[in-house]
Amino acid sequence: SKGAAMVTAVAQRLALQRSQVDQALSTLKLTQKHLEWVKSSMRAGLEAGLKTRGPSPVKMLPAYVYHTPDGTEHGQYLALDLGGTNFRVLLVKINSGLRRSVRLYTKIYTIPLELFDHIVQCISDFLDYMGLKNARLPLGFTFSFPCYQTAIDTGTLVSWTKGFKATNCQGHDVVDMLRDAIKRRNEFDLDIVAIVNDTVGTMMSCAYEDQQCEIGLIAGTGSNVCYMEELSNIQKLHQGEEESNQGRTEEDETEHAANNKWGGLGDDGCLDDIITPYDKAVDGESLNLGKQRFEKMTSGLYLGEIVRHVLLDLTRRGLLFRGHVTEALKTPGIFHTKYLSQIESDRLALLQVRSILQQMGLDSTSNDSIIVKEVCGAVSRRAAQMCGAGMAAVVDKIRENRGLDHLDVTVGVDGTLYKLHPHFSVVLQDTVRALAPGCQVTFTLSEEGSGKGAALITAVARRGTARS
Ligand code: GLC
Repeated sequence: SKGAAMVTAVAQRLALQRSQVDQALSTLKLTQKHLEWVKSSMRAGLEAGLKTRGPSPVKMLPAYVYHTPDGTEHGQYLALDLGGTNFRVLLVKINSGLRRSVRLYTKIYTIPLELFDHIVQCISDFLDYMGLKNARLPLGFTFSFPCYQTAIDTGTLVSWTKGFKATNCQGHDVVDMLRDAIKRRNEFDLDIVAIVNDTVGTMMSCAYEDQQCEIGLIAGTGSNVCYMEELSNIQKLHQGEEESNQGRTEEDETEHAANNKWGGLGDDGCLDDIITPYDKAVDGESLNLGKQRFEKMTSGLYLGEIVRHVLLDLTRRGLLFRGHVTEALKTPGIFHTKYLSQIESDRLALLQVRSILQQMGLDSTSNDSIIVKEVCGAVSRRAAQMCGAGMAAVVDKIRENRGLDHLDVTVGVDGTLYKLHPHFSVVLQDTVRALAPGCQVTFTLSEEGSGKGAALITAVARRGTARS
């Protein structure tokens, strides 16, 4: 009958749609082989980064941090945090001994365009607010962009990342720029002790509680890792270069924190086999074309954009949203990573997915919302697996450095993707377990790495000299 023929036609159309959607999603699925490839590429990247200061996609940026904290840190420190969603100024009070504690006072500011003068203006406001204008406090600056450091208090900005841009900064020393701006204002003085990557702050903040913590991971707006590397391996970086001895005593130091800039993996083409047209589209729209390919597949700033490009493709092919490519769908940035987290929440009914899509201006059927949820799942799963594969390379590197068959190690983690996404952390940990069976890796959330961690590094760097 006519009715039966129509039903068959609809069923056929749905089956065809299903297979085309599956085909698109399959480009985002990683096999065991792929993951092992990511791991071995990351390992090769780490080794290359250790051998050269020259152009290597995974740079090893020494942090001039030789110790994790030991609990004797004490005093009052100022910390700045630039590189995430907000700019923050913090006062950190650390007590040692029986009353061991860390207290934080913080104020959030918008991200400045005229960068350093504005930063100094924010510090001025904060010091007024805390009644500390004349204190000449020691300061640790969490500056979460790749910097080449030759001492704990110098750092040349290699390049902006994460969609950040401010003029006349690349290639300049961040601490010099801050000192100059403080001088220009001529209103207060500070003792700038340390410049800190957020990964290192995160590691230090976690290591304050847990001596086994030797790795810091950020899975947030950006993606990066740091770990304690053998000093002898790092020194290769400085052949023929004068080394600063600040904060060091000769005998007991065998290790040094290195911030890896692992987000640059793939910039030499080694990930081309798994890079999809969607990733290419995201890269093409970014401010740092061709750079930070790993970061663009794994971090919060970009995951929503990958999803949007998949949806755009499916819609253009008539597989989604009834084939209507709306203005909303064409707008970069509409798909915030927080939506990804919400859509993927297991507790969420399809109706709620539809209402989230509605908020973005996307009209969906319930079939559409199923597909959107699948797309989000594929994109975030791939991100978590890639981070896991990278982490497997790092822990195996530490294990082999020490000639061990088995390593117990803690990773201090921070970042919205890790903290807020319903599945990211589980997939990440499962992947590390599968790819680095010789390591028992514990992941610990490290709160306030950028404030507490920076203050601890500042304290470690000038141990004993801080005022309280
Ligand atoms: C970007 C920055 C890196 C930072 C990471 C996490 O990759 O280049 O320095 O650690 O984001 O915030």
